[in-house]
Amino acid sequence: MDVTFKIRRQNPDVRDLEKPYWQEFVLNDVDPTDRVLEMLHRIKWEQDGSLSLRRSCAHGVCGSDAMRINGVNRLACKILIRDVGERVQVEPILGLPVVKDLIVDMTPFFDHYKQVMPFFVNDDPLPEDGRERLQTQADREQFDDTTKCILCACCTTSCPSFWANGHYVGPAAIVGAHRFIFDSRDQAGAERLDILSEPNGVWRCRTIFNCTPACPRDIEVTKAIGEVKLAIRKGTNVGIIETSAIH
Ligand code: SF4
Ligand code: F3S
Ligand code: FES
Repeated sequence: MDVTFKIRRQNPDVRDLEKPYWQEFVLNDVDPTDRVLEMLHRIKWEQDGSLSLRRSCAHGVCGSDAMRINGVNRLACKILIRDVGERVQVEPILGLPVVKDLIVDMTPFFDHYKQVMPFFVNDDPLPEDGRERLQTQADREQFDDTTKCILCACCTTSCPSFWANGHYVGPAAIVGAHRFIFDSRDQAGAERLDILSEPNGVWRCRTIFNCTPACPRDIEVTKAIGEVKLAIRKGTNVGIIETSAIH
């Protein structure tokens, strides 16, 4: 089958190309099970080597090829042509500065992520037998979902609150914080909750829900944000939360 790609292009460093414009490419002999990422490679390698996109693993693991495909944030390597049809519109994800074509500057995204202390904190000495810090399966279950994040930014760049205010930490940063706030072995949950109580923290989330269907890892993003909000309201964190009362 033939498939037409309409791609939003821009090169802020080159005069006459600094404004966004659309360009169409037609690919022949496309199989419905071909992936969008492979087709973008074909365009780059067979038709226009100047087309720029970011990708690495090609298997939905590294999170580097998030883009807006037919108006929805996706990883190009996880989407098949049969899922998007014979006309495919591809744009960079929204709310971050475009570096070139489909590549955006992820610096603001990672700055928000770093803000929430996305690392394990525990200053107690390790158990004397040298074994790891243990926790029950139930304790682990509290943050299992948010460990799956690959920092692709599909959630944050689909959030209207983030589009309206780039200072909002965004759902990905909250997911990153959730992973440690609800870890019974961690000791910095209260500090993270303080950070997320700030005006550009969780309360900028208006429960619009775009982030949850955008997540390629099927993380229940809005639910995780709700759990963090509840923890702040209760002035507490970790396993003390009754998760059944959260939804
Ligand atoms: Fe990507 Fe999902 Fe992590 Fe958001 S929560 S950055 S959509 S993997
Ligand atoms: Fe945005 Fe998701 Fe909240 S789309 S407003 S972070 S529920
Ligand atoms: Fe790594 Fe798509 S290229 S997730």
